[in-house]
Amino acid sequence: MKPRKKYIFICNGKDCKKNDNKSFSSLLKQAMNRAPLKGNFKLVKTKCMDCCKSGPIAVYNNQLVKKGDTDQIVQFLMKDLL
Ligand code: FES
Repeated sequence: MKPRKKYIFICNGKDCKKNDNKSFSSLLKQAMNRAPLKGNFKLVKTKCMDCCKSGPIAVYNNQLVKKGDTDQIVQFLMKDLL
């Protein structure tokens, strides 16, 4: 049986939009389309998650990634693959 994809939740609320969540999500998509992450994760847009001052934010595996820190979330994803 093929393993299921894991979800990354990215906030698409008003304040995160103001803080440029579009470039955060496009950087994340670029990272997810490169090996070895390719095909293992899925990006899900959510409503506001009440961490607006830290935006743009994402949540992966109950870990909050603040300020659009793409490097940090890629580290979490890589760690999870090992
Ligand atoms: S708008 Fe993103 S956490 Fe509120």
